[in-house]
Amino acid sequence: MSAAAVLSCAPKGDPQLGKDSLDKVVAAMTLEEKAHLVIGTGMAGSSGEAPVVGETRNLVPGAAGTTYPIPRLGIPAIVLADGPAGLRINPLREGDANTYYCTHFPIGTLLASTWNTELVEQVGQAIGNEVLEYGTDVLLAPALNIHRNPLCGRNFEYYSEDPVVSGKTAAAYVRGVQSNGVGTSIKHYALNNQETNRMKNDVRVRPRAVREIYLKGFEIAVKESQPWTVMSSYNFVNGVYTSESKDLQTTMLRDEWGFKGMVMTDWFGGADAAAQMWAGNDMLQPGRPGQFEDIVEGVRSGRLSEADLDRNVRRVLELIVKSPRFKGYEFSNKPDLKAHAAVTRQSAVEGMVLLENNGVLPLASEISRVAVFGTTSYDFIAGGTGSGNVNRAYTVSLLEGLRNAGYAIDAELEKTYTKYIKEETERLNPKSDDPMAMFMPKIRAGEFVPSAGLLDKMVRANDVAIITLGRNSGEFLDRKVADFTLTEQESGMIEAVCAAFHEAGKKVVVILNIGGVIETASWKNLPDAVLLAWQAGQEGGNSVADVLKGVANPSGKLTMTFPVRYEDHASSRNFPIDMAFGMFGKDKDAEPQRNVDYTEYEEGIYVGYRWFDKQGLEVSYPFGYGLSYTRFEWSEASVKPSRGETAVRVKVTNTGKIPGKDVVELYVAAPQGELDKPVKELKAYAKTRELQPGESQLVTLKVKNSELASYDESASAWVTDAGHYDFMLGSSSRDIRATLCAEIRGGSEKTNALSFDK
Ligand code: BGC
Repeated sequence: MSAAAVLSCAPKGDPQLGKDSLDKVVAAMTLEEKAHLVIGTGMAGSSGEAPVVGETRNLVPGAAGTTYPIPRLGIPAIVLADGPAGLRINPLREGDANTYYCTHFPIGTLLASTWNTELVEQVGQAIGNEVLEYGTDVLLAPALNIHRNPLCGRNFEYYSEDPVVSGKTAAAYVRGVQSNGVGTSIKHYALNNQETNRMKNDVRVRPRAVREIYLKGFEIAVKESQPWTVMSSYNFVNGVYTSESKDLQTTMLRDEWGFKGMVMTDWFGGADAAAQMWAGNDMLQPGRPGQFEDIVEGVRSGRLSEADLDRNVRRVLELIVKSPRFKGYEFSNKPDLKAHAAVTRQSAVEGMVLLENNGVLPLASEISRVAVFGTTSYDFIAGGTGSGNVNRAYTVSLLEGLRNAGYAIDAELEKTYTKYIKEETERLNPKSDDPMAMFMPKIRAGEFVPSAGLLDKMVRANDVAIITLGRNSGEFLDRKVADFTLTEQESGMIEAVCAAFHEAGKKVVVILNIGGVIETASWKNLPDAVLLAWQAGQEGGNSVADVLKGVANPSGKLTMTFPVRYEDHASSRNFPIDMAFGMFGKDKDAEPQRNVDYTEYEEGIYVGYRWFDKQGLEVSYPFGYGLSYTRFEWSEASVKPSRGETAVRVKVTNTGKIPGKDVVELYVAAPQGELDKPVKELKAYAKTRELQPGESQLVTLKVKNSELASYDESASAWVTDAGHYDFMLGSSSRDIRATLCAEIRGGSEKTNALSFDK
């Protein structure tokens, strides 16, 4: 139903959205209409309220939600759909021969690993075009929660352990998507860092960590991209549901950061509809029985002021007015999927991180016969599971990618793996009647250690061995420690393949097709190269082959630390480790369970590299790390503080033999004042353009004095201490190439003292 259709059937006399002022439209609404408008229309298959006028749930089948239409006032329903790696709608429709597949782009973590905000913006543009052309209005993405712990099941959707990388990446993504005239929803605001008991977990955290680590990315995204909407998270923060927290939804978001859009809940999030309305959580999705009555009754009893409800109603209307559906955009249902496949293929190579390379990569031109090991090579993972999944038409496996690139794949090995994977997958995934089963990731076939006989044949028949290790995860479940470490079979396979191929003077390359951090320290020196391919979207196999062949030079850098041991992370002392899936918190009288009912963020601001640096801990790969096929030299580093801002410059020259891009990371160490300071913190970064051998680029990075501030809890203020600051230019957090000193003027900025600050 287009807005035009809605308008034409409107009875005479009622004010009309878009023609009359919002004041008039709101004034003409009944209390019941207002209550309906701030609640979604229910979710197909859920226990939500009955669908409303025109079956709006089916405007775009498979979309996550719709808003409530009020035809008499010219208010159409608009459509909200997931999610970060591309649009998630149903690919098939009953009685319709057309298909509605969407492009599965690389996962969030890979996009962030490009350290290239221009590229992220371009990917966002392509994603947003599918949002527009499939008739949806708001994309429920990007997701930018901090990687507090490597085992969070949804880290693949998120960007980094660092707030600057998270915020800059999210802002670029939002700008790209919204350039199509459709909306985004930055999520999950805030502190949703574990999946275990995600709807009821209480995050207990100090204000400094809230402001500096967990909200900083959201603040950057709001200020630099003005997303149309924000999605509040499920969890509590210091005893208050985020969706019921006025501090979060109004004081910080709107008063302090200047957010102008609308806030919606995560699906079925929070408990008290009237409190959510009061807090400034404008819309409740997807709509639940009881919420309507709560709001109407709340206003009638005076528990909720009608002025607060009207404010939220206006924000919903402001969103609707901006939407393509309201404007009557005639979507084609035919986005250019071919062009977008090229976008995902090319963007993925820039976020792949070359972890090890003793010269085997790019593969020499005489290499043509490849022995492909590891079940994942044959069943590549495009992205994670749950709402972050995309209904794509295909996934290019590593095998197909290599074949497309002209390599000859060992047929005997292929046959062995194909048979094994089929049998194991059937055995591990018996048919189930459990309704939760559809949300759970499919159990993937484990590995086997190839026999000496098979290996002997493979070594003789092939020029090189490629092994893929795979990991998948998603909503509802955190990963287990056993998912972080390698299985005996995986280690056995790497050892056996490396021993056999090396004995014959042949090389081994390991590809990591993973969505979250795994253990690498114990085995990384066995193969000749390790390429962290992440989950690279539907063209994954082609993108990896482009890197292996040298068609593309990888330029990704880690946006998180790869620790030696899982326990090395400070947060590992307060994380739900190895919990079984369950609906928690049913027994009201039971003692609250640590890391389930509540999680103490004891480590404060010491998340990721801030912790490893403070402790001087050895890591397997540091934050910011990644190799290239070429070499870069940095020279002429300089620093220039001026009023309120410091500019740092460096010249980057490609001194190697092939074209490539480099990343310059700027870390800052503040003088030790009254507040405890991290050893260093990333404050800015930039990626060069593709530099030809011998070519240089001058990179300038700017940092405002206010961005050097720490949050002083006792004063409720951001404080920049005056004094000597070290500006460190790094190729990783542990590879600082130049340190420049500058004298910075101090300053401070008061914030509101928040009620959930303990
Ligand atoms: C997820 C959100 C998602 C929503 C709608 C929830 O389960 O947490 O990220 O946008 O569902 O599908």
